[in-house]
Amino acid sequence: MRILVTGGAGYIGSHTALELLAKQHDICILDNFRNSSPECLRRIEKLSGHHFSQITADVSDSEAMEGHLDAYRPDAVIHFAGLKAVGESAEKPVEYYDVNVSGTINLLRAMDRSGCRKIIFSSSATVYGRPEYLPFDENHPCAPENVYGRTKHMAEKIIQDWQGARSDSSAVLLRYFNPVGAHDSAEIGEDPTDTPNNLLPYVSQVAIGRRDRVSIFGADYETRDGTGMRDYIHVVDLARAHVAALELADRHQGTETINVGTGAGHTVREMIDAFSRASGRDIPYVVTDRRPGDIATSIADPSKAYKLMGWKAERTLDEMCTSTWAWQQRNPNGFRGPGHSNPTKNDVRQG
Ligand code: NAD
Ligand code: UD1
Repeated sequence: MRILVTGGAGYIGSHTALELLAKQHDICILDNFRNSSPECLRRIEKLSGHHFSQITADVSDSEAMEGHLDAYRPDAVIHFAGLKAVGESAEKPVEYYDVNVSGTINLLRAMDRSGCRKIIFSSSATVYGRPEYLPFDENHPCAPENVYGRTKHMAEKIIQDWQGARSDSSAVLLRYFNPVGAHDSAEIGEDPTDTPNNLLPYVSQVAIGRRDRVSIFGADYETRDGTGMRDYIHVVDLARAHVAALELADRHQGTETINVGTGAGHTVREMIDAFSRASGRDIPYVVTDRRPGDIATSIADPSKAYKLMGWKAERTLDEMCTSTWAWQQRNPNGFRGPGHSNPTKNDVRQG
């Protein structure tokens, strides 16, 4: 298949691109490098041994999106491009709605023009909000509590309505739980440009000595050790869920919303211990107040993913930590090494 991967230079998109290339798909990565680096694309080419088309563009630019889809004519789109920081979304709500919601509308309009009828969308477990019951299944009511979550929920609804109006189309809305880990090569991984908001990248930077200690945001939750519990999923498992979702979209018309998690939870303390084992380093921590907006526990019911796509997570917590540590050690500054360059808007390179 010819697959347009928006946001394909980012953390999850880059791992997915490698899985797609391994399956001999023809891909085109479109990214504006707002939260990523062209160096990542060079590494994907090196690791996969394949060249692919690359477009530097912004999903907020409706005209440019139409031009790029007209030119590439994808069979399917995987839409990762978006902004994802919960705190920032409260400070810059209009920008978040613009990129995450208007960007999705621009993409759908461009898909219509070019005749593309299949979309896989990156949604988030954050759309559920506070749990009424656990684990979260896909029928759990959605009541997102932050701007970021609302943008994802709105984009889900827009895609669902787009699909509902086109009987020959398909949409798979993947709700990710907590992606962590890195590629086995240690050549690609999560590369936060600022102070990490998420737990594991922060723990990893403490282990390498870039930060002094981890703050545990609250130890008085109703969990087995009082700290927050999440469903961490290895990014390679998550990447493979996209390949399975594409196969589903290819054989099935309609919209499917699917959780992507493991079904198991780990607490903050358990994550720190596991990372300490994987890295062989002490990881100092201090318990602080709860982070506003956090919930005690978030765990997926991943059974629909297995039923519909034959997909389930395979990698262990230790693999999540050892791969993160290998990536961190090999790339202490992420992708920002010598030779880093930022291409200009709307650069196009045919693969
Ligand atoms: P990421 O920031 O690493 O990747 C997003 C990519 O989109 C980046 O390469 C960025 O440069 C690009 N991008 C941002 N704005 C763009 C724009 N206007 N035009 C074109 N490209 C743009 O994030 P990620 O962790 O890989 O997440 C990918 C998707 O999955 C996002 O939509 C995110 O909201 C969603 N998601 C992520 C998580 C997570 O924990 N990482 C959880 C749930 C959902
Ligand atoms: C956060 C986002 C969520 C997003 C998800 C994945 C918030 C409120 N929620 O969720 O919308 O979908 O990331 O990107 O930001 N923790 C610490 N110390 C830290 C960092 C985190 O104790 O320095 C704790 C948290 O309280 C939580 C757990 O670690 O219990 C995981 O945190 P995090 O990685 O930020 O993920 P989520 O809270 O699930």
